[in-house]
Amino acid sequence: MNTHWKSIAVRAAAVVASGLLVAGAALPASAVKPDGLRADAPKDLKIGAAVWGAKELVGYDPKSPTEFQRVLASEYSSLTPENDMKWDSIHPAPGVYNFSGGDLVVSFAKANHQVVRGHTLLWHSQNPQWVTDASKTWTCTEARLVLKDHIDTVVGHYKGQIQQWDVANEIFQDTWDQGGVRLRTDKNPFLKACSQDPVALIGDAFRWAHAADPGAVLFLNDYNVEGINAKTNAYYALAKELLADGVPLQGFGLQAHLSLAYGFDDSLQANMQRFADLGLEISLTEVDVRVPLGEDGEPSQQQVAEQADRYQRLLGACLAVEQCQSFTIWGVDDSRSWVPDVFAGEGYALPMTGDFARKPAYQVMRQLLHDATPGNSPRVAPGQRKAK
Ligand code: XIL
Repeated sequence: MNTHWKSIAVRAAAVVASGLLVAGAALPASAVKPDGLRADAPKDLKIGAAVWGAKELVGYDPKSPTEFQRVLASEYSSLTPENDMKWDSIHPAPGVYNFSGGDLVVSFAKANHQVVRGHTLLWHSQNPQWVTDASKTWTCTEARLVLKDHIDTVVGHYKGQIQQWDVANEIFQDTWDQGGVRLRTDKNPFLKACSQDPVALIGDAFRWAHAADPGAVLFLNDYNVEGINAKTNAYYALAKELLADGVPLQGFGLQAHLSLAYGFDDSLQANMQRFADLGLEISLTEVDVRVPLGEDGEPSQQQVAEQADRYQRLLGACLAVEQCQSFTIWGVDDSRSWVPDVFAGEGYALPMTGDFARKPAYQVMRQLLHDATPGNSPRVAPGQRKAK
């Protein structure tokens, strides 16, 4: 944990200890005006950011926001709790639910007229120890009961306040995993317990979520699903199967964690369109573009330009697909990015530096949004804007 996070954790712990952290506490109306990306976006496109630590929202006062809070409120119209609605945060022990972090994000969003993406209900990662332990002996019936209680309780708690839920996250393996592209019946404790018929469990997870909040749009979400490839072919087949079974699957989320170490897959737009043609909403859910950095930790000018080009292409594809109405960046600024902690030697992944300086990536996106927005919805696809 770097010092930035440490100080936030210490501050948050002090607030919890002093009893000031009231779950779901109402916040005063916002005084923060939309600006930048949010202000320039077409009305039918949400521009989102992941919030790493909801603790940074403790004590939010719209009249005197911290710089982070001001940027978060003004530049984005959608928020995703980066960790606070995951199993290990929100359901740390059997029968124990902790909504404090998620409630902070939802309250902040409400005060600033933002929507929220809920993340996530069925995943192989960031599960609490009790799930990992208990799952070793679960029958499918037991696993189903635990998952249903979780979905009923969490989705029910936020009923009416979540625009999109990532119901199932990263449920397919990759080509390079043992066994190739197939459902994660090895790592996901719920799919493992129900490995006889994992699709039935996935379908029921969507049904339970829909019953708990009929207004939330329900998503499959994953990484490495940007282009047309073996993994997206598997998702395409699964989506068709679920839809044919009447499952309330309504969206396909592309995380889009890109790296300049790899090429850009130009089949992105066609891939998004084929899922849209199934009747699904499309979201880019966790966008970042990490940069392999040298000894000095600084990107080259060429890398900065290449990064801007990647962001431009991601956003451009979203603007070109009518059903893509949500574009979320996985963090606000480089001091609040998961990248350096997870990808050794890479960083500089977000459109703002740690002191909120706007990078070329930010500028090109803003221009693109501006060009796509001749004042009103519906948006105009890139290159299609008519001269006034
Ligand atoms: C990451 C968070 O950004 C980190 O803070 C956390 O330590 C690990 O998880 N795919 C997902 C996200 O769906 O939930 C992950 O978020 C990044 C990859």
